[in-house]
Amino acid sequence: MKTIAVIGQKGGTGKTTTTQGLAVAAMLAGLTVAILDLDPQTNSASWQRRRTKAGLPPIAARSCQAGELPHVLEALETAKADLVLIDTAGKLSLESIAAARVADLVLVPARRQIFDVETLEAVRDTLHQAKNPPAYLVPYGHHPSVRDAITPMLSTGERFGIAVAPVGIAHRSIYADAPALGKGPQEVEPDGKAAAELQALYEFVSSLTRSQTQPAKRKAAQ
Ligand SMILES: Nc1ncnc2c1ncn2[C@@H]1O[C@H](COP(=O)(O)OP(=O)(O)OP(=O)(O)O)[C@@H](O)[C@H]1O
Ligand SMILES: [Mg+2]
Repeated sequence: MKTIAVIGQKGGTGKTTTTQGLAVAAMLAGLTVAILDLDPQTNSASWQRRRTKAGLPPIAARSCQAGELPHVLEALETAKADLVLIDTAGKLSLESIAAARVADLVLVPARRQIFDVETLEAVRDTLHQAKNPPAYLVPYGHHPSVRDAITPMLSTGERFGIAVAPVGIAHRSIYADAPALGKGPQEVEPDGKAAAELQALYEFVSSLTRSQTQPAKRKAAQ
């Protein structure tokens, strides 16, 4: 079982959208996926209720307190979940540290705007307190016409010592529309550009988590 935490210091940066999009991508790839929602707004738990109502393939999503993470993850491991995505609230806190600490991989959706960039120092500190799990900025929310959202983000990543994912998520209305139906964008427009972005991000994170042979050792070693 692999665990991915999606964190960020600012509200509304795309954490929940990324979490749900990756969950749907993993589910479509045949994995057993669960979302743990650490955010008191419980967006992912509500999204799952809409999925159930609409008769869509279920993706387990439940609210969770940071303190419950170790035993909830243990139960999911016993239940043979393949992938757990942890959605967090829009502020860095002890909860974000707890989520990053149990994660094999941390994703930080990040826009290039200065207000987002300014928060990355706090993200770096959070990662440090979580004993530096592998972490990637996900270039986020650029105009769909932008051909290369990655290169401009590299200097920001370097400045804060956080790697940059080679895949970004553009601003597209389908990302905002799909969750109202309890869906991921891939389930609304399977051949759409958002579906392709999420698939590419899913493949990237899968390649990373697959290559982590012994994440437990990393945690034990730190
Ligand atoms: N790529 C995108 N294109 C267009 N709209 C988006 C995109 N990603 C997210 N949104 C919209 O932006 C808003 C914030 O996104 P989201 O809820 O994913 O952010 P968040 O980081 O989880 O916020 P919070 O910190 O409040 O939990 C939502 O209304 C969402 O539908
Ligand atoms: Mg959210």
